[in-house]
Amino acid sequence: MMTAKFNVLGVAGSMRPSSYSTKALKIALEHAKKHGAAGVRLLELSKTVLPIYDPNGLASKEIEYAAEAVAWADAFILASPDYHGSMSGALKNFLDHFFEEFAGKVFGYIVASHEKGLTVMDQMRTAVRQCYGWSMPYGVSISGEQDFAAGGEISNARLSKRLQMMSRDLVVYGRLVRDQFVRDLGSSEQHTYAAHYRP
Ligand SMILES: Cc1cc2nc3c(=O)[nH]c(=O)nc-3n(C[C@H](O)[C@H](O)[C@H](O)COP(=O)(O)O)c2cc1C
Repeated sequence: MMTAKFNVLGVAGSMRPSSYSTKALKIALEHAKKHGAAGVRLLELSKTVLPIYDPNGLASKEIEYAAEAVAWADAFILASPDYHGSMSGALKNFLDHFFEEFAGKVFGYIVASHEKGLTVMDQMRTAVRQCYGWSMPYGVSISGEQDFAAGGEISNARLSKRLQMMSRDLVVYGRLVRDQFVRDLGSSEQHTYAAHYRP
């Protein structure tokens, strides 16, 4: 039996108001909706500014807001600029705040880079894997001015199709993984990784 609803959270890791990675993320979320996601939400780390993760830190309304969105999500799309071959500090800090909440959920990746951003995606995948999240085997890289027109719309037809493909695959494969994880959580079978997440 499939979960009735499947929610996708986009996390925008750029602080720039005219960020290309955020633009692409918004388009990807629209596609996710068209491909059957019940709900899509955007968490912009430039607007929800999380404190640097501190295991002994105080609660804050920004952390609470992000935590509620993370718990709501069945799958994620992470969007980051390429900063020195790495994800942005804001995005890494977001990931630092969570751990168990990512288990059994699928992640897709978007990177704005002049060099494809493959090392950025690898780093995001590594962090997600450490939390027992599942990663899409490919991501979408965008090269700002070359892929977007002055008005802000995508000018590269291949990129447009690739974003659509990623969103479609995230919803279809993400639902399979999530459904099985939820089933495994609810069963008494011992030798599944979901068993570690039972209360
Ligand atoms: C501090 C800093 C480091 C950057 N490092 C790289 C890099 O290593 N490789 C690259 O291709 N682009 C690099 N860039 C360019 C950004 O990735 C590029 O401008 C991207 O479009 C920013 O993403 P955004 O439009 O979503 O904010 C860097 C930019 C900044 C400000």
